[in-house]
Amino acid sequence: MEKNFYITTPIYFCNSNLHIGHCYTTVAADTLARFKKLQGFNVKFLTGTDEHGQKIEAMAKKNNMQPQDYVDSIVEWIKDLWKTMNIDYDIFMRTTNPNHVKTVQKIFKKLYDLGDIYKSSYEGLYCTPCETFFTEHQLVNGKCPDCGRDVEKLKEEAYFFRLSKYQDRLIKFFEDNPKFIEPESRKNEMINNFLKPGLEDLCVSRTSFNWGIPVDFDGNHIIYVWFDALFNYVSALGFMSDDDSEYKKFWPADIHLVAKEIVRFHTIIWPAVLMALDMPLPKKVFGHGWVTIDGGKISKSKGNVVDPKILVERYKTDAIRYYLMREINFGQDGNFTNEALIKRINFDLVNDLGNLVSRTNGMIQKYFGGQIENFDYEKNEQLEKMCLDTVNDYENLMNQYKLSDAITKVWSLINFANKYVDEIKPWFLAKDPNQKNTLANFLYSLVEILRVVSILIYPFMPSTPKKILAQFNLDESYINLQDAKKFGVLSKNIHAIKSELLFPRIDIDKELEELEKINHLK
Ligand code: MSP
Repeated sequence: MEKNFYITTPIYFCNSNLHIGHCYTTVAADTLARFKKLQGFNVKFLTGTDEHGQKIEAMAKKNNMQPQDYVDSIVEWIKDLWKTMNIDYDIFMRTTNPNHVKTVQKIFKKLYDLGDIYKSSYEGLYCTPCETFFTEHQLVNGKCPDCGRDVEKLKEEAYFFRLSKYQDRLIKFFEDNPKFIEPESRKNEMINNFLKPGLEDLCVSRTSFNWGIPVDFDGNHIIYVWFDALFNYVSALGFMSDDDSEYKKFWPADIHLVAKEIVRFHTIIWPAVLMALDMPLPKKVFGHGWVTIDGGKISKSKGNVVDPKILVERYKTDAIRYYLMREINFGQDGNFTNEALIKRINFDLVNDLGNLVSRTNGMIQKYFGGQIENFDYEKNEQLEKMCLDTVNDYENLMNQYKLSDAITKVWSLINFANKYVDEIKPWFLAKDPNQKNTLANFLYSLVEILRVVSILIYPFMPSTPKKILAQFNLDESYINLQDAKKFGVLSKNIHAIKSELLFPRIDIDKELEELEKINHLK
């Protein structure tokens, strides 16, 4: 039977300031999607853009553009960013997609007919220049927290979703499905901070701006941007359209990957609306942490280059992807610095992985003229066990979404192999003609380890495995998870090809100075 797997990132607010933190979610989702494909799943991986709302309307105006033209131009920039990061998505969903618009309108009407959406009025403190409602405690010295001007009490007619009605069902759902929200701490936060104190009905329409999906039976109202956005996960699969075969196949999602600040939308509001529509709920919402700078929000003012396009230009995509997935414990916050990035490149990629590849290749060149053949294969129990245990642990960790732990495991294997070379001292074996077969076996085992390493790093660093395999005249067809569970797969005829270094070493002081200059220029 076909095993389907549906994974989503949040859809990004349409702007061209996406930084390394935004890339974190897409890289993690891409890594998981590639891993699931390796496991043999039929994967659907969705990302996209959230294109409506007052802020986008204002940005378009500032740029003297129509909102649609404005978002079209930004979408191109975002798609290019994902190409740069080697994100292999299956669906790029836009909330201005006409099918999405129709679906959201139908859903809104259905909930209205069911009585779960009703009309009332919204009362709050309003800042006219900012076109935004605030609560009393959001104000700063009684004034608008954004522009500092006076606010006024205002009443606006609006539609509401009966969120409060779903409180008990949500608590029960969380209890019955303890793995629905991960990590565990986020689940406790949702229960204690939001569900237990009590849910209020949610305002789901606005009348103060135009750029959004209109309520089709009440033209003054625009559907609240979050309500609009969440439904992309099902409109993308053709839900409520003439062809909903993809919806039937892939819904419910196996995992919504989001950062912690939007866990509430995905674990309270989204399930409640799905309950109201009698639809299955997603199987899991994983709320990962934030990439921070000095423990706070990412910004380029803090002396670090955070523009992913610049970073990729300097260090290549795989190095950035590796850094993000390795450095930050998946689920927790983690600090980003250019220095830590360069150190990871120099230590892990140049010294560990790069060195293992180049010394293995170099020894085959030096001791066997580039070709090991006609030797009697002898199993190396120790290397074989280390390799198979690593694959096993890696797969278990990946299945539990422990991405940083899984890639760390692969590095234990790489480091083990490097140490093994130092212990065996092949340069001594090479001096003894009686040891020729032992040496050939030893080098063959190292190439086997590199084959396995190539498979395991592939989801994280999709371009590097091809380069490693090519050094031993092997092609991409060797990137196969089933084969990672076997040792001695390669033919006993290994041809090593003289190649360039996998990763060039970076002069850290010089590089940090360069980055500082770039930051000043921007
Ligand atoms: N449009 C909404 C999501 C709607 S989903 C139905 C949104 N967009 S966003 O562009 O502001 O953020 C999208 C995602 O970017 C965040 O949820 C998070 O996954 C990611 N991140 C943005 N900054 C980040 C960090 N500094 N660190 C980690 N992830 C970050 O929210």
